[in-house]
Amino acid sequence: MTTEIQTNRLYFGDNLKFLENRDYFPSESVDLIYLDPPFNSNQTYNVFYKEARGIPSTAQIKAFEDTWHWDDATFLALHHIRTPGNKSPSSLIELLNTLEAFLGHSPMFAYLVQMAVRLVELHRVLKSSGSLYLHCDPSASHYLKLILDSIFNPKNYLNEIIWRYRRWPAKAANFQKMHDVILYYAKNRGQHKFNVLYGYERLAESTLQTFGTNKQVADFSSGHRKPGLTDEETQGPPLSNVWDIGIIAPISRERLGYQTQKPLALLERIIKASSNPGDIILDPFCGCGTTIDAVESLNKNAPEAPARRWIGIDITHLAINLIKYRLATRFDMG
Ligand SMILES: C[S@@+](CC[C@H](N)C(=O)[O-])C[C@H]1O[C@@H](n2cnc3c(N)ncnc32)[C@H](O)[C@@H]1O
Repeated sequence: MTTEIQTNRLYFGDNLKFLENRDYFPSESVDLIYLDPPFNSNQTYNVFYKEARGIPSTAQIKAFEDTWHWDDATFLALHHIRTPGNKSPSSLIELLNTLEAFLGHSPMFAYLVQMAVRLVELHRVLKSSGSLYLHCDPSASHYLKLILDSIFNPKNYLNEIIWRYRRWPAKAANFQKMHDVILYYAKNRGQHKFNVLYGYERLAESTLQTFGTNKQVADFSSGHRKPGLTDEETQGPPLSNVWDIGIIAPISRERLGYQTQKPLALLERIIKASSNPGDIILDPFCGCGTTIDAVESLNKNAPEAPARRWIGIDITHLAINLIKYRLATRFDMG
């Protein structure tokens, strides 16, 4: 008998514990996974309670440590991957052997091992038509792409999405870092769901002057491809893999005080592109619940369609409380 996956559930604890348990996560049960794990940035992230809505305190409380160590848990995770009965892909085992020789037992290698053991389970729980988006930054994206290639197969790699944002410049003897990376994979390229989204990221001045925002059509009457113009307003071209979405402004109502909170617009885009009404969306590092909010916002805007469902996991009590508060205040969900 196969267990049915429970949806619209928040789980508190280490996601690995839940993901390994097939009673919680049967194989091929989820349509879309978005994960935004801590980046190995060696920082401690806080919740600013002064800002956190509904929490009357000015304290700044440690939410989670973004530091991965070479400890017993990491050693066990590597051992688990290498144990033949556990059926980790041989390409992953070979890759980790090579990375171990190159990186040694460093925090970076610990981080990659901890990601690898979770990504193997996440791959298992994805339906054959499912997709996974891994949010990271350039400090580890090159290694994570190798790990994902070894688990998903390079042929199922779809995009490296660049999320470009503006922020106050920091002192640095190099160019300002103003983007994150989102690695996008299908479980099976060709079978995966993809809804083309249209819009403008940023039009060139010259295009705006010549065409405005009117729809352009290709005109071959001269024997060459020339852009022509129609009277219709266009919804814009198909979106590219460079996304210009603002970070949440300090005074925005969206801001909950959770330092690593991502914009709703970013999650709504991912969910609209890679899921359909009625689908199940999993966020195993769900922080203050942006993915869950995005799913419920889409449901609210389309009450006639079957509701998308969600599952969130976080190891921090503060995050779980903030999500409960978010669901209660924005969607009247107890
Ligand atoms: C970068 S934040 C996610 C932010 C989220 N995308 C949002 O918009 O709020 C990463 C989250 O992963 C959680 N986390 C770290 N290790 C975890 C683990 N092993 N299992 C579950 N959650 C974990 C942290 O508590 C933190 O809330």
